[in-house]
Amino acid sequence: MTKRISIAIDGPAAAGKSTIAKMVAKNLNYTYIDTGAMYRCVAYYAWLNHIDFHDEQGVSALLKDIDIQMFPDGTIQLNHEDVTSSIRENEVSMGASIVSQYEVVRTFLVDKQRQMAQGGGVILDGRDIGTVVLKDAELKIYQVASIECRALRRHKENLQRGLESNLEDIQKEIALRDEQDMNRLISPLKKADDAIEIDTSDMTLEEVVAKVMQLVEQRV
Ligand code: DC
Repeated sequence: MTKRISIAIDGPAAAGKSTIAKMVAKNLNYTYIDTGAMYRCVAYYAWLNHIDFHDEQGVSALLKDIDIQMFPDGTIQLNHEDVTSSIRENEVSMGASIVSQYEVVRTFLVDKQRQMAQGGGVILDGRDIGTVVLKDAELKIYQVASIECRALRRHKENLQRGLESNLEDIQKEIALRDEQDMNRLISPLKKADDAIEIDTSDMTLEEVVAKVMQLVEQRV
């Protein structure tokens, strides 16, 4: 029987991590865990409760009332309500980047992520998977792409979904989030020493998946 390993994919906002992670998880029959969605749930719950994202104490006090459930079909429930699309709103993206700076928020979610990842056969994407959450992951990927490329991909995605979209605004929002995520004090986004960097700017989805699958095969 082949070994079921743990795979960490980190990288900046809108680098296509979740798309790749989902495809690789499907190929391998692994569980995919979208850790960004968990930070988004905390931000969304703060917004629902009219708590300012910058109010660390206010946000921290909410954690005890937060129950996040992630289903294999990609559905995300927050306290038994389907929040799969609500947590993708722009305001929630920025909120997630802000609340992810708080130590209690990170501890709360990292504990959950480690529990969910127990036993291997998992692929997690986020900002601190290879550096903090799964330091011993057998395969660590640091997925990057130029900011222009990331913004354009997100813009096209929005248009395809029939959402209003402004390329310039998207680029600004992504740049600001990256800046915040890379410069925060606790678990900032950075490449783990033993991570393999993949620049997807000039690669197709299929090429990226093939590259990751090749790296997996070397490790199982
Ligand atoms: O991956 P995403 O864009 O859905 O993540 C939203 C925000 O959550 C991101 O800007 C920073 C934070 N985040 C984090 O701090 N650590 C993670 N492992 C995942 C996301």
